[in-house]
Amino acid sequence: MKALLAAAACLVATPLMAQDAARGAALFDRHCAVCHGTGLRGDGPMAEVLAVPPPDLTRIAERYDGFPRVGIAWKIDGRDPLVSHGGDMLLFGHVFGTMSEMMTDGSQTLVTAPEVVDLVAFLERQQE
Ligand code: HEC
Repeated sequence: MKALLAAAACLVATPLMAQDAARGAALFDRHCAVCHGTGLRGDGPMAEVLAVPPPDLTRIAERYDGFPRVGIAWKIDGRDPLVSHGGDMLLFGHVFGTMSEMMTDGSQTLVTAPEVVDLVAFLERQQE
């Protein structure tokens, strides 16, 4: 069922350049699951020591009434700083490489790291 939904999402989503949701999933396990949880529900092992609880990342589309692809990329790469992502230190901007790639959600275009593009593609497919 999940695979079927992912396939359907591929058909309807605006294609991003070189997006790779599978690579995004691997990056998520390595860098994000510690807080957000492997199932994206905000229940990773570090969640309980954080002052701000990590949000359920399967409900982004529900929270924003649609998946704000570029806005979410901003949050991950640190241009829209989140306290728990390192604030002004742009945590993931440093973790990921310096190569850049363009992504768009129809109204906005953003140049970001390919890792961020892959993570956004992965997250977009996990929406409920
Ligand atoms: C140290 C724990 C931690 C790590 C590691 C972490 N996050 Fe977060 N994340 C949070 C917390 C807590 C929030 C809530 C907002 C804040 O920090 O102000 C958040 C917010 C977010 C949001 C915003 C969701 C929304 O609805 O606006 C996204 C997207 C996100 N994280 C994705 C990621 C991704 C992708 C990674 C890995 C590259 C990651 N996070 C790594 C703790 C973490």
